[in-house]
Amino acid sequence: MYVCLCKNITCSDIREAAAREGLCSLRDLKDRLGVASQCGKCARCARGVLEETLRETGRARGAASGALAAA
Ligand code: FES
Repeated sequence: MYVCLCKNITCSDIREAAAREGLCSLRDLKDRLGVASQCGKCARCARGVLEETLRETGRARGAASGALAAA
């Protein structure tokens, strides 16, 4: 499913980037993939996909949600 239409980024792109490159915040996604760097409408969905990925991979640890909130 496409998450960011402006940058053509899918859920899989976010999951792969989080796993492969250790991305753990919306800011990381923005810097590496360009997610939420234009209209910003995808930010909430992208954050959700990232949080889910971090939980599944055991990397959430509370700090991630703080980092996501700050991004
Ligand atoms: S849909 Fe992601 S920046 Fe526009």
